[in-house]
Formats: sequence, structure tokens, C-alpha cells
Amino acid sequence: MFLRQLLICILLLISGARSIRDAALQVPGAIIAGNPLIMWCRFDLEGEALYCVKWYKDNSEFYRYCPWSSPTPTTYNVAGVEVDIVHSNESMVTLVRSDVRTEGTYSCEVSTEGPAYKTVLLESDVVTYVMPSGGPVIDGLRKRYDLGDTINVTCRSAPSKPPPRLKWYVNSKRAPSKLTGKTQVSSNPMTDGMGVQAVGLNLKMPITSEDLRNKIIKLQCVSTIYKNLSEKYDEIMYHPYLNRTLLPDPEGPRINGEELLNIYDKARTSVEWNCTTKVHDANEAYLEWTVNDEEATRNMTVHLSIARTGRQKTYTSRLRMTLEEKFVTSMRLKVRCTVVYSQPIQFVSEETIFTAASTSFHIMKISEASRMTIAPTFLTVVIIGLVVSHIGNH
Ligand SMILES: *[C@@H]1O[C@H](CO)[C@@H](O)[C@H](O)[C@H]1NC(C)=O
Ligand SMILES: *[C@@H]1O[C@H](CO)[C@@H](O)[C@H](O)[C@H]1NC(C)=O
Ligand SMILES: *[C@@H]1O[C@H](CO)[C@@H](O)[C@H](O)[C@H]1NC(C)=O
Ligand SMILES: *[C@@H]1O[C@H](CO)[C@@H](O)[C@H](O)[C@H]1NC(C)=O
Ligand SMILES: *[C@@H]1O[C@H](CO)[C@@H](O)[C@H](O)[C@H]1NC(C)=O
Ligand SMILES: *[C@@H]1O[C@H](CO)[C@@H](O)[C@H](O)[C@H]1NC(C)=O
Repeated sequence: MFLRQLLICILLLISGARSIRDAALQVPGAIIAGNPLIMWCRFDLEGEALYCVKWYKDNSEFYRYCPWSSPTPTTYNVAGVEVDIVHSNESMVTLVRSDVRTEGTYSCEVSTEGPAYKTVLLESDVVTYVMPSGGPVIDGLRKRYDLGDTINVTCRSAPSKPPPRLKWYVNSKRAPSKLTGKTQVSSNPMTDGMGVQAVGLNLKMPITSEDLRNKIIKLQCVSTIYKNLSEKYDEIMYHPYLNRTLLPDPEGPRINGEELLNIYDKARTSVEWNCTTKVHDANEAYLEWTVNDEEATRNMTVHLSIARTGRQKTYTSRLRMTLEEKFVTSMRLKVRCTVVYSQPIQFVSEETIFTAASTSFHIMKISEASRMTIAPTFLTVVIIGLVVSHIGNH
């Protein structure tokens, strides 16, 4: 036992001597296609001479800065990576513009000259979002509908990544799902493989005497792209009580109920937890439960509710399950609630208004499509200490 500890100590000393202090890779976790991309590779050589800084995307080198070999850095062709030489140096790299192909895993490798030959390799992912070129469009409109006719129209989004979620609004109210259905939108082989996709949603609405009484039919379609901001989780584990395993993050989710539980007494009984998280009014959250690293499904029920208070929304997801014998006998139970926080970005179609004249409806006006609305947020996420992910707009 003592020998093993000693060995670990020696190994730590060796690896400690070889690593570079305070090394950190700072890249935006997400970017919008078209924008430049700035990435920092920070390090403290503690007085030693730099040998090289090498940058890779998905393991392909695209930039190399070796002060000893030549005063100018070398760049290599990698799809979607166009280095701005003037605005790049030993500590950072600027890409002129980004596109879908810019998405991937970036790494920087820093090494020092002999005799120490220290080296460090840091890695971080970049996700590209492609915004649609404009708002969604409404197809299949007729100028006139009579009582008993069916309005049969399709809302089509422009290609984007990720593809948006579409919603129909009739007279400013969300159209019931029984009136809507997904439709195929012609694909573009150039971009489909890269996750850029257009989607369509059909609306089939019979014109009833109630519409005639209301005298107006107002149609609008909204497409929403969800930009993920961060991911956080809370977890409880059996050891030897069912207890929290980490300090709850005040900004993150929190599991309540059945804390400090001795599951030994609870075999075959029903247990329940709530996972609660607060988000800014303009943002949304996606909550997911896992039990022993598997998605909560069979024999477990999940119920989600959202409450609004002022500028905040509180999401509560309830997990109810029967504590099966196997959890108790194996003494292995880990319950985790993971939340992905996202920012919805909305694009709105033209608003089409029909007004009633005796027993028919005529197009009255088609207003302009609204510009996209982006809720202002600025968020910095720290992932595993070393890698700083940085997402923001405006
Ligand atoms: C690299 O360029 C950035 C931005 O112009 C600058 O802030 C930084 O100090 C430069 N680093 C070095 C080592 O020259
Ligand atoms: C609705 O329109 C689509 C094409 O736009 C057509 O394929 C479909 O048959 C129409 N449905 C009805 C009920 O008219
Ligand atoms: C955002 O998070 C959701 C929920 O985990 C996930 O399904 C989706 O793929 C994520 N989107 C991106 C672009 O990473
Ligand atoms: C369980 O959590 C409490 C605080 O909620 C803490 O004081 C206690 O040490 C934890 N017990 C174990 C076994 O982790
Ligand atoms: C979970 O929340 C619901 C209401 O949202 C409450 O009725 C229930 O008692 C809560 N359960 C636990 C275990 O806290
Ligand atoms: C669900 O629970 C019941 C007892 O509550 C058990 O008999 C059954 O095997 C469980 N099913 C699954 C799929 O675990």
C-alpha cells in the first residue's frame, strides 16, 4: 500500500515537472456561422523558451508558431478554417470567418525547448449555428375562401442549423396540434449532411361559422432556433446514504426530496424527487433524468411543470419510481438531473389577415415579416476548469 502511494507521488512529481503552468484554452462554445472565431491558448512558461504552439481542428494541424524556426507562423489548409495571420500570434488564433465546417474539436499544443521539454495539449469543442436567411414563408394561400372551405397552407423555414421548431398562430393563438402536421421540404445535398436543414409545417383549417362571427382570420408562423447556452446537473448517490454528491450550483438545477435516505428500508416502495431550476424569462431549459446513467423511462414517471414569477421561470421536473430490489441489493443508485439552458431565437413570417364579406373571406392585408428577435444574454461557462467556454452575442 505504502509502495503504491510512493509510486503515485513519484509519478505526480514527474508529470508535474513536465506540465505547463496555468495552461488554458479559451474558445467560444458556440458561434454563429459568418462571424470570425477567436481562440486563446494561454500558458505560463515560467521563464523557459517556447518551442512551438500548434493548433489542430479534429486532429488536423492548421497553425504552427515556432519562434526558433521562422519569425512567421505556418498555416495548413483545413476545411472551414481560414486563419487571419495578422490577428494571430503565439497566444491566440483568429479565423477570418466561420461556416458549418468550422464546427469541431479544437486543440492547442504548447511545448518548450530542452532540457525540460514540457508539453501540454488542451481541447475544446466549437458548435456552429447557422441562422436562416430570413423568416419562414407561408405557401399555398388563396385570395378567397368560402364558408366550408379548408385553408391548407404550409409554413416553410429557410435552411438553418439546428433546424427550427415551427409553430402556427391563428388569430394570435397557437393552432391546436390536430390542425398541423410536418411536411417534407426539398433537401439540399450540399448542406443536409452538415446539419443545415429546412423544415415545413402544414396547417389545415376548415372555415367555420365561428370564424365568420369573428369576422377575421389572422395567420402567422413562427420559427424558433434554440441556441444552447450551458449544461448543468445535480446528482444524488447512495454512499452509504442517498445524498448529494456535489455542492449545489446556485445557477444550476437542484434535486429535492428523499435526501439522506437509507434505501435499505425502501425496497419496492415508491420514491419521488423534484428537480428545480430557475431561468431568465427569455431563456428556456430542457430537463432530463438519468438513473444509474440510463435515461429515466420504464417504471418511472416524469412530470414537468413551469411556473412564471416576474422575470423568471421555474422549471420543476418530478421523477417518481419504484425502488427496485436490484438498487438495494447492489447498493448502487445514482440519480442525476441534467439541464440544458437555451436561448430561443425567433423568426416570424408575414402576417396574413383575411376579413369576412358575407359568407367568404378575402385577403385583407399581408404585413411585413418581423425581424428576428434575440433575447440579450451573455454567459460564460467554465468546463472542467481548464477549458473556458464562452458564449455571447451583442
Ligand atoms: C497576440 O495578439 C493579441 C491581440 O492583438 C494581444 O492581445 C496579445 O498580447 C498578443 N500576444 C503576444 C504574445 O504577442
Ligand atoms: C394540402 O396541400 C398540399 C400541398 O400544398 C396537398 O398535397 C394536399 O393534398 C392538400 N390537402 C388538402 C386536404 O387539400
Ligand atoms: C442542445 O441541447 C439539446 C438537449 O440536450 C440537444 O438535444 C441538442 O442537440 C443541443 N444542440 C446543439 C446544437 O448542441
Ligand atoms: C450528506 O449531505 C449533508 C448536507 O446536506 C452533509 O452534511 C453530509 O456530510 C453528507 N453525507 C454524506 C455521507 O455525504
Ligand atoms: C414536488 O413538487 C410538487 C409540486 O410541484 C409537490 O406537490 C411534491 O410534494 C414535490 N415532491 C417532493 C418530493 O418534493
Ligand atoms: C415495474 O415494476 C413492477 C413492480 O412495481 C415490476 O413487477 C416490473 O417488472 C417492473 N418493470 C420493469 C420493466 O422494470
